[in-house]
Amino acid sequence: MSDIRFDGRVAIVTGAGAGLGRSYALEFAKRGAKVVVNDLGGSRDGSGASHSAADVVVKEIKDFGGEAVANYDSVATVAGGEGIVKTAVDAFGKVDILINNAGILRDKSFTKMSEDEWDLVTSVHLRGAYCVTKPAFNVMRENQYGRIVCTTSGAGLYGNFGQANYSAAKMGLVGLMNVLNIEGAKYNIKTNTIAPVAASRLTEDVLPPDLFNKLKPDYVMPIVLFLASEANQDSGMIFNCGAGWYSRTAVVCSKGITIGDGKRPIKPEEIMEKWNIIKGLNDAKPLGSVAESFEYMMPLLQ
Ligand code: NAI
Repeated sequence: MSDIRFDGRVAIVTGAGAGLGRSYALEFAKRGAKVVVNDLGGSRDGSGASHSAADVVVKEIKDFGGEAVANYDSVATVAGGEGIVKTAVDAFGKVDILINNAGILRDKSFTKMSEDEWDLVTSVHLRGAYCVTKPAFNVMRENQYGRIVCTTSGAGLYGNFGQANYSAAKMGLVGLMNVLNIEGAKYNIKTNTIAPVAASRLTEDVLPPDLFNKLKPDYVMPIVLFLASEANQDSGMIFNCGAGWYSRTAVVCSKGITIGDGKRPIKPEEIMEKWNIIKGLNDAKPLGSVAESFEYMMPLLQ
């Protein structure tokens, strides 16, 4: 097994002052990357700001002889995103790797969720990924090399009570990845997405204490580092990861059924009659683009 190294590579990790991001940043630096440790340093719900979160991780990296620089911008603004990428380019000359990781929570059941709670959470997770990825993608495109890892959540992929804002934003990241996968292909920019489960301040009141102690961020770190490495040639995929379990998950499309001939009208009763086939996921598979879904319709469109 050859070592995965990041010598000569520049990595930005957003929200790297704690939890999962800290674990990634430390390991990137141990394996030779120059790391931008971005963190706004606010609280779990996104309020407040402090330099100490990023500074502590930069110090940890420097203490073992690694290279890192702190950035305190919020990912949620265009200026912040540009500032984060500028920090990388000014300090280290480029950006090879971007881990979109920063996140907050403001949980409420849907009918009780305020507009502010919706806007704040979606702005950090989804708009935040846009704000940082856009300038980073431009640098990667110029250099014909990039590895981007986005962070979704089981809450978005599968649903979780009280997290409509968070789940919608997290599924938005899957849509962003799907397009970056296609648009980045000719520039050797690979974008993938993880759905982690790990002990952090985001999950301390969600996970039972015995599980909390077992779900170390360091078990999520290895798949993020692999996806961010030159060795990874896959793109556009989503991976569950936690406690040492790694699995691909996907939005899939089944062959379904063709009704009629593309010319005659179709009745709702015909849908009812074939409902078990339509909703069944037999032969379902992930598609590479929306154009692939047209293949199933093609016989009807001739
Ligand atoms: P964490 O709270 O320990 O770390 C998140 C970091 O992001 C914090 O240090 C925080 O200061 C920073 N941050 C928040 N808003 C920011 C902003 N606007 N700009 C820059 N930095 C900001 O949480 P954790 O668990 O490490 O979460 C990391 C990512 O993983 C998040 O996107 C989260 O939604 C996601 N995730 C975590 C899961 C888990 O089980 N821990 C489950 C599913 C997803």
